[in-house]
Amino acid sequence: MREVTAIAALRALLATERSAGRRIGLVPTMGSLHAGHLSLVDAARRESDTVVMSLFVNPLQFGPGEDFDRYPRDLERDRVLAAERGVDLLFAPTVDEIYGTGADLRLSGGEVAARWEGAVRPGHFDGVLTVVAKLFNIVGPDVVCFGQKDIQQATLIRRMIREFNFPIHLLLAPIVREADGLAMSSRNVYLSPAERDAALALSRALRAAEARWRAGESDANALRQLVGQVLAAVPGVVADYIAIVEPDALAPVARVTRGTIVALAARVGRTRLIDNVIFGD
Ligand code: PAF
Repeated sequence: MREVTAIAALRALLATERSAGRRIGLVPTMGSLHAGHLSLVDAARRESDTVVMSLFVNPLQFGPGEDFDRYPRDLERDRVLAAERGVDLLFAPTVDEIYGTGADLRLSGGEVAARWEGAVRPGHFDGVLTVVAKLFNIVGPDVVCFGQKDIQQATLIRRMIREFNFPIHLLLAPIVREADGLAMSSRNVYLSPAERDAALALSRALRAAEARWRAGESDANALRQLVGQVLAAVPGVVADYIAIVEPDALAPVARVTRGTIVALAARVGRTRLIDNVIFGD
């Protein structure tokens, strides 16, 4: 695995790969790698010849009072995991390399970015889209891989690819879960043992909703109520939102069909967690 921090050096290496006819796959991350990220490497590998992983904790997507400063960082460990999983090029730039001084322009996610996560974290998706568009321009990938866990992020990036004509194929990789159902997240390290137990309510609520749907319930309100009850039954878990939505614009639906997404966010102690299920997947 080669590691680069400079945009110019990365571009030079990728020009050689491209001229040898190799397809480029990109896995954007903020580091603190877990099995979920590594499954994205596998997915990118299946559809490309050279896999680039970016590792950059993007200040633009953290709001005031969010965890930018305490976001877990361990470059040494990430480097080993990425190399073991077969990443070819690790791009780990500094904030200066990406934004320089005085970077002022932002992409806007529009209406879709204002919903759900965006309502609780104003500006978050503008920061995500801005850095991802920059990564697309820096790397020029044929394929990019995102996790279903951040379903609103993946939906917005799919829309950005479409609306801004990036010639990139987006792969959505399924959520990777711990054996007990907890969706893998870099933020799980913040949970105390008791909070980690409580956090299982999120996946339990989603499983309950899908089971009820499979048993014949298609009314979104009834399913939302069920999810709310499962979350409320666990002390220390406070739901932020329960979204029952269609997959293109994440607009609420009244009736649930195959492909409908149930996405939720909840606070467990001081940690905010998200999870979702795509019905019928
Ligand atoms: O999902 C993440 O880790 C980040 O939001 C991303 C896509 C790497 C952009 O900073």
